[in-house]
Amino acid sequence: MRSSSARSVVVLLSILLNIDLFGVQAERKLKLHKLEKFKEDTRFFETNLSFVEVEDNVVKVNGELKVKYQVDDHFEVDVEVNRSEERDGEYKSVFYVAKTGVCNFMKTYYKEFFYDRLKEYSNAPDPSTCPLPEGAHYHLDDYPLDVKMLKSLLKPGHYRIEFKAMLDHLFYPLIYKAELEVFE
Ligand SMILES: *[C@@H]1O[C@H](CO)[C@@H](O)[C@H](O)[C@H]1NC(C)=O
Ligand SMILES: *[C@@H]1O[C@H](CO)[C@@H](O)[C@H](O)[C@H]1NC(C)=O
Repeated sequence: MRSSSARSVVVLLSILLNIDLFGVQAERKLKLHKLEKFKEDTRFFETNLSFVEVEDNVVKVNGELKVKYQVDDHFEVDVEVNRSEERDGEYKSVFYVAKTGVCNFMKTYYKEFFYDRLKEYSNAPDPSTCPLPEGAHYHLDDYPLDVKMLKSLLKPGHYRIEFKAMLDHLFYPLIYKAELEVFE
């Protein structure tokens, strides 16, 4: 009796687990509500960034970066991601990339995760190029960002993302803000 009821529990658990797993794999949707350049100090750079959804799981990204003042580790970048259940609810930090000098960022994250894919759609600088020289002009053309992975990693909810560049620990010459929603 005992072992049979134990077996039922296992069967029940595996059904629940399967349903749960199925739920995780079910197609989620990602909607970008907003992407804005919140702040830009054009003494240092001029930038552009835009997204267009072309298919269910592919977003095309276009962007430009004009460097007007040599960019080295005096500039630090950071990324912050907050999440809330409701769009106007209470947002809590879920992910954070601490301030990192631009040259350091290029030798690490950029080199490992971005450069190989970016270079096919842009004249993105080689990871060893640092500082980025004054006068440099980089552009990204129709880069197909696959959001499938992102959707499966992000739990449904509302997200606010901030990308910032800080100069000499003093002020932010560049801030981009985005708002997106993941739902089932
Ligand atoms: C940003 O994009 C617009 C339209 O695509 C373009 O006209 C403009 O020159 C771009 N600006 C910069 C700084 O790249
Ligand atoms: C995330 O939440 C913290 C704490 O409430 C806040 O200081 C920060 O500005 C928020 N960041 C974003 C990207 O909304």
